[in-house]
This record gives sequence, structure tokens and C-alpha cells, in this order.
Amino acid sequence: MVSEIRLFATAQYAAQIQFYQELLASRGVTVEWVEIEQLNARFLRQHPELALCLDQDGLWLSAEGMKMQPDWRGEISRLKRASLKSELLARACQLAEKPKLIDATAGLGHDSLLMAHLGAEVILVERHPILVTLLEAAKAQATLDPFLADTAERISLVYADSQDYLEQRVREQQEVDVVYLDPMFPQRDQNSNKKQALVKKQMQLLHLLLADDGQMDLGEQLLAPARQIAKRVVVKRPRLAVHLDDVTPDHQWLGDACRFDAYFK
Ligand SMILES: C[S@@+](CC[C@H](N)C(=O)[O-])C[C@H]1O[C@@H](n2cnc3c(N)ncnc32)[C@H](O)[C@@H]1O
Repeated sequence: MVSEIRLFATAQYAAQIQFYQELLASRGVTVEWVEIEQLNARFLRQHPELALCLDQDGLWLSAEGMKMQPDWRGEISRLKRASLKSELLARACQLAEKPKLIDATAGLGHDSLLMAHLGAEVILVERHPILVTLLEAAKAQATLDPFLADTAERISLVYADSQDYLEQRVREQQEVDVVYLDPMFPQRDQNSNKKQALVKKQMQLLHLLLADDGQMDLGEQLLAPARQIAKRVVVKRPRLAVHLDDVTPDHQWLGDACRFDAYFK
């Protein structure tokens, strides 16, 4: 896990920088502020290492000239098109029932944003200190947006390892309607179609951020505790990927690039 990171920002953001330095220090990440004159594409090309950036768009990550941020406002057009019928995710998670749902692998929170928009009450769990900080910033921005505010209200964020979080809920017999899992998957899956195997830019950066401790955690250990507390566990997989933890699901919904495997109680 990243324990030190540089933050590029101009002097006008000093107060926010101090806030993020203290918050991330409490989560075990030392942030070194590099004061710069101007944050632009040229600067980012010249500084390809993984770093945080702060500007008028809020807090985001950069690496190799790419930018990554839980872009909840950027998802608005997708949310406007989405419906309970058109979204496989909505059918797999039975969003029409307005379930209480735990998304145990938050990432950028885009799937959860869609699920909350379509009616779910979401607890979003992320264990990466930088990602959870980015998610908190995205949620704070979303609560100020007229279109996203109600949706953001239905999302609560938890900074924790989901295995611990789910196991604690098992011990406390705290049940939930749905647990949703979308663990990392090696970038090149069994699908021979190169185009489909190439993850989007944001996912590439996510892989860069998360893959620094050698072996990728594929999330197999989350399935068992999830099944103990949820009426339904839904797992997102690349279309041709093996089943999570080698457990055959009760039902599958197949999309073009991914599929949803469901396990019922
Ligand atoms: C593929 S991403 C999820 C993408 C997400 N569905 C979205 O819409 O943006 C997987 C995320 O799950 C997180 N994760 C994996 N295992 C976890 C665990 N045991 N506890 C908490 N978070 C975990 C990773 O840090 C990563 O951010």
C-alpha cells in the first residue's frame, strides 16, 4: 500500500492541502506538498509518477499523464439514461425493491452511484486510504450538485477492510439485502479480444495505485462472509472469467464485456 505520496498544487490551495495532509496522515499516508506555478497537461507529462493533485476540480490522482478521480459528476449523463429495466446491474441486485446494499469493493464508486440512483441504500466500503479520501471528496461535491444530492444522501462511506467489516456483521448478525462485489481482476482476462481486455484509462490508474504490493488480491475471501449476511450476493466479473472462489453461482446475467453472478440465500 502507498505510504508516501507527493501532492502537486499551487499556493492558493494551502488550507485544503493541510486538511488532506492531516486526514491522510491519520490513515498512514504521508503527503509531501510540492508547490507549483501551474498544474497543466505539460506539467503532468513531465511528472509521470503517481501523485495527488489539487485544483479547481478537487482532489485527484495522476500518473503517466493520466488523471483519475471518482468522477461522479461525469456519470450524470449515464445516470440519466439508466433505468431499472435497461441495467443488468439493476436486475441482478433487484434494485426495484430498494434494497439495503453493501458494496464491499468501492473503487471509484461508479457502480454504487448507479445503484443508489436507482433506489438502493448503499454502504460503500473501501480499504485503500487514498481511494477512500477521493471518494469522500467526490461525495462532498455530489451533495452540492442538484442532480446528485439525493443519490449521494443514500451512500455512506466506510473506511475498512471488507473482510473485517463483513465478518463483524456476521458476528453481530446484522443482515442486509444485497452484498455487491467487484474485486480487482488481472487486466488481461481469458477473453482473447484485446479490445475488451484493455481496461479503461481510469482502471489502468486504479491498477497502478493498487498493484504495488506484489500480488493482486482477487477478493475470494469476501464471498463466504458476504453469503452469511446477505439474501443475495452479486459478483461482477469479466464476461469469461472464472467464478469467484470457484463457487458456481445460482444465476448469471451476461453483458457484452462483463457478467453478474448471483448467489441466493
Ligand atoms: C475493481 S475496483 C471496484 C470498482 C467499482 N465497482 C467501481 O464502480 O468503481 C475494486 C476495489 O475494491 C477494493 N477492495 C478490494 N478488496 C477489498 C477489501 N477486502 N476491502 C475493501 N476494499 C477492497 C480495491 O481497493 C478497489 O478499490
